[in-house]
Amino acid sequence: MNSKVTPWEVDIESEEDYRKLIEEFGVKEIDDNLLNELKEITGDLHVLLRRRFFYAHRGFDELLKEYKNGKSFFIYTGRAPSKSKMHIGHLIPFILVKWLQDKFKVNVYIQIPDEEKYWAKKTDDYEATRQYAYEDARTIASVGLDPDRTFIFINSEYIKHLYKPAIYVAREISIHEAKKVFGFDDSATIGLPFYISLQIVPTFFEESYPLIPCGIDQDPYFRLQRDIAEKFNRKKAITILSKFVWGLQGPYTKMSASDPKSAIFIDDDYETVRYKILKYAFSGGGATLEEHKKYGGKPEIDVSFFWLSVLFEEDDRKLKEIEEGYRKGEITTGELKDYTAKKVWEFLRNIQENRRKIDLDKFMYDGKLASEMWNWEFKI
Ligand code: TYM
Repeated sequence: MNSKVTPWEVDIESEEDYRKLIEEFGVKEIDDNLLNELKEITGDLHVLLRRRFFYAHRGFDELLKEYKNGKSFFIYTGRAPSKSKMHIGHLIPFILVKWLQDKFKVNVYIQIPDEEKYWAKKTDDYEATRQYAYEDARTIASVGLDPDRTFIFINSEYIKHLYKPAIYVAREISIHEAKKVFGFDDSATIGLPFYISLQIVPTFFEESYPLIPCGIDQDPYFRLQRDIAEKFNRKKAITILSKFVWGLQGPYTKMSASDPKSAIFIDDDYETVRYKILKYAFSGGGATLEEHKKYGGKPEIDVSFFWLSVLFEEDDRKLKEIEEGYRKGEITTGELKDYTAKKVWEFLRNIQENRRKIDLDKFMYDGKLASEMWNWEFKI
């Protein structure tokens, strides 16, 4: 197996690697049956589900059954700030969260662990990382979450409420198990094994089911949670797991926040988006315009086409037209890139406008759910 996936390291090289992860992690594929059941409740399906970018799950089938029997759930996910701003890949789980919140009218909890990337040595400046924590909270809120039903918290600020349950959780997980699931080596800091308990605690915020949309790299935390939840009279975590958005350099490359040539950032302006796509986006087009027109392009390895298919072209018919036109060489690489830049910008402009208007305090301190949570106390 070529792939290596932990919350701190992701190395995927093919669709085959994603399939193998399903076996390795012991999760299930999101299949037609499951999507049809969801659609019966929601009326339609978000593009990230329809196109199977969220491709695996643990227990989501059970959750839908329980939901139909009148049981409730809440949503929990998070973002660990680092030494740079969020890119479009980081936003994927939050876009699905917004859709789920609209459909099910449920509470959403967003954890911003400002210690995680510092302890993982992905950033060297803790104070700067803390500043990014607020920037990221604002970005996440601007996907359109409901301020009455959303609580965004930064770990170092909210720690008083997290610490007591973390005391209980930390006792239940041995270094042996943590190593087995996360593969720590001897150079790992002692912060990270403890951090596991802090990422598990929010699954206990409510007594109903925690539903967690996230990248598949985050699954190990919740596998451990499922082993211990019942000890605390809490429900086992349900995950819906996504693949990773490719970086600009090509299929299965990492979109890395520390490499601007690989990523589109949430605050990039139109000129920057267009420039990056035109200059850096790996193309599946022919070597010359003549060759492209004669032999056609390969949408399956083209980063622009990939981005359209993941999220930015919601119209299935239009996507098919682009795919066929590109494959036949009728659509040029330049045209495809230009179109992609426009679609990405349509999306980003909206986020950026919301970002300026957002009253972040409502999500973090004094909104309906936020003010309740500042009084939250863990009781078994
Ligand atoms: P972080 O900050 O590394 O990433 C935030 C979320 O984005 C996902 N992600 C991606 N999804 C698609 N394409 C990409 N290229 C891409 N890069 C990152 C991640 O899988 C993640 O879901 N430990 C977490 C923060 C966290 C959390 C949680 C996540 C705290 N509590 C609860 C999920 C659930 C982290 O470092 O995420």
